[in-house]
Amino acid sequence: MNKKSTKDILQAPRGMRDFFGNTFQKRKNFFRTAEGLAEHYGFSGIETPILEHTEVFLKGVGEGTDIVDKEMYNLETAGGDRLTLRPEGTAAVMRAYIEHGMGTLPQPLMFYYGGPFFRHEKPQKGRYRQLYQFGLEIMGSKNPAHDALIIQTGYEILKQSGKEIIVGINSIGNNNERAQYIQELKAFYKKHEHELGETDQKRIETNPLRILDSKDASTKKINENAPELLNSLGMESRIFFDDVLDYLDMLNIPYEVVPSLVRGLDYYEHTVFEFVTLDTQGEKSHALGGGGRYDGLAETLGHNKAIPSVGLGLGVDRIIEIADEESFQDENEQKKVFFISLGKEAHGRALALARELNSDTLQLHLALSDQKIGKQFERAEKLGFEQVLILGENEIKENTIILKNLKTRKQKIIFLDNLQEELEK
Ligand code: HAM
Repeated sequence: MNKKSTKDILQAPRGMRDFFGNTFQKRKNFFRTAEGLAEHYGFSGIETPILEHTEVFLKGVGEGTDIVDKEMYNLETAGGDRLTLRPEGTAAVMRAYIEHGMGTLPQPLMFYYGGPFFRHEKPQKGRYRQLYQFGLEIMGSKNPAHDALIIQTGYEILKQSGKEIIVGINSIGNNNERAQYIQELKAFYKKHEHELGETDQKRIETNPLRILDSKDASTKKINENAPELLNSLGMESRIFFDDVLDYLDMLNIPYEVVPSLVRGLDYYEHTVFEFVTLDTQGEKSHALGGGGRYDGLAETLGHNKAIPSVGLGLGVDRIIEIADEESFQDENEQKKVFFISLGKEAHGRALALARELNSDTLQLHLALSDQKIGKQFERAEKLGFEQVLILGENEIKENTIILKNLKTRKQKIIFLDNLQEELEK
């Protein structure tokens, strides 16, 4: 174990961040908006543990993927169990579906979930080791309308960012079609082996699909003439994909068919997609989210039958980073009030009043301070409050309280019985 200095341990682990103030509030507001929209479209919430048996991801996401080979946080318990901090949600939600026999319920089941996920990636802007996702899964349906429902819900959530969103979409067919295509692709790359980038040369045998979205300039050139998976799809897969695209057309959701889009998780079949926004230079940025169909995942995890499903994961950190300043604001219009009480008895009264006032409509900042009143006004102003309540000895005697507006500098005396009413005016 490498020993850490005090300086090291007083910093959050690399790629992990603290959230407070505005960053905390934005994330909370994002989830509130996303959950509201998901519920509008008929999804209900699910929460799975942060840890799963390592095999859930080994089998589900697949050995040979970056997530499983390089990025998982694995641990062994004192009892010898091998557990993993969840790097993604789909395999875990499918595990829950199977465990609870949800196949006997009316299908499909529609879930949303959110929270932290963990991937040991190289940290940079938009890439964290503790990342936040909002996910949607529809389990138990092979209907292309459900692919469209997933994309539409994700699109509606992303549009709340105020940015222009487009969907990159592709079909990677079924396992047989893909296996055949991979042979074709390998043969093609072997012919051009020496014209590929160095890393890509190594991928010809291990993961030729990954070469398709290579960033290497020489590989990119070769890729211009690479065979396309879309052309190797059988009739059924092609019709399924066309149906999904028809729905997107009907819904006016802007999309682009991207033949090189394959995604980095093994469970996908048929539809795969990613959401991107165009930045000011018109260049495509990091994916804000992605997903697809995973009809075979249940069987890969060891279930006795297929559960056709489709879903997505949105990258909450990235969405908040690109969102317009005024997006994901507090929706509830709670009035904010700074409450100054002067002395022990007034502090006690202030605490008691807080209990009586309506928590749905008011957000109180109880100062409970013994500082001079002028200093307290300064603090209220710095924190951006307009309304200030002041409770001193006189007021307690007379059953009143002072309400002061820091902007207009006007103040009035209110009977305590009328306080709620006055604050809501
Ligand atoms: P994914 O593409 O691995 O898919 O992740 C979804 C989104 O999470 C990405 O598009 C990205 O916005 C965000 N993301 C991923 N890694 C990081 C990171 N290190 N830092 C910040 N953001 C990140 C899945 O996880 C699938 N479970 C999605 C899905 C659900 N497919 C079907 N159902």
